[in-house]
Parts: sequence; structure tokens; C-alpha cells
Amino acid sequence: MTIVDQLVDDHAFFNEKFKELEALSSDPNKEQTLVQASALVQGFSERHRLHLKRESSVLFPALLGYLDEGQGNTARVEISHHLRDEHMGLEHHIHALEQDLVTRPPNAEWPKSFRSLTDVFTPHMRNEEEHIFPEAVRLMPHNQLETMSQAQYFPAF
Ligand SMILES: [Fe+2]
Ligand SMILES: [Fe+2]
Repeated sequence: MTIVDQLVDDHAFFNEKFKELEALSSDPNKEQTLVQASALVQGFSERHRLHLKRESSVLFPALLGYLDEGQGNTARVEISHHLRDEHMGLEHHIHALEQDLVTRPPNAEWPKSFRSLTDVFTPHMRNEEEHIFPEAVRLMPHNQLETMSQAQYFPAF
């Protein structure tokens, strides 16, 4: 298994959680709904923290090193932009949704925060799967991608 396989698995997990949250959002204020939504968002958020480290601290910095200054300039700019802006935006949206659900009483408008999150998260994942990950697979040695999947310690980025 490579780090790209892990990242794609994470995306599948996130899409699954989004489906479950979408189902709950049709009746957002029932006590049981709120308990379940809270647990789903917590599980999502924990896995996303790890996912972000795998991308921002392990895969993307290494990928940038493989993109030649001249040939890969567009890709470098795209990945740098992607790292800084999109990931910060995603964390902001996840935090807003968490806040809605931990506030007492919970914010009845949590499905709005959920939709704001999926509006940016879904195209973000698609871009990674269609452009960034294939570029990593094309440029980086397979055994390096495998070794990266075993990274247990993530340096600060
Ligand atoms: Fe990402
Ligand atoms: Fe991702």
C-alpha cells in the first residue's frame, strides 16, 4: 500500500461520513440526530487531522521536490496554493461545524455549516484525485510512496 492509496481510502471514508451526515441533516434537531452527528463529525475531524499531515507534511513537500523548476512551474504553483489556502479553508469549515454541534444548546443551523464544508471539500478531493495524486504516482518512485505510507512521525510543517 502506498501513501496515495491511504489518501484515497481517507477520501472514501470522508465521503461515507458525508452521506451519513446528509441523511441526518433532513431532521437536524432531534436529540438522537445531534448525538449521532456529533460523533460523526468527531470521527471525521480526527481522521482529517491525520490526512492533512499525510498530505501537507509527507507527500506534498516530497512531490514539490520532484517537480522540476522549469517544467513543473504550473504544478508547483498549484500545489503550493492548494497546500496553504485550501487546507486552511477546510480546517476553518470543519471547526465551524464542530462548534455548531458542541455548543449547548447545539446550533440548529448545523446543516448550513455542513453544506459549506462539503461545497469546498468535495471539489478539493476531486482535484487531488484527478491531478495531484496521479502526478505523484507518475513522478515518484513506487517504493518511496510505499515507505511514506508507514510514516508514524510527522514533523511540524
Ligand atoms: Fe487535501
Ligand atoms: Fe485529501
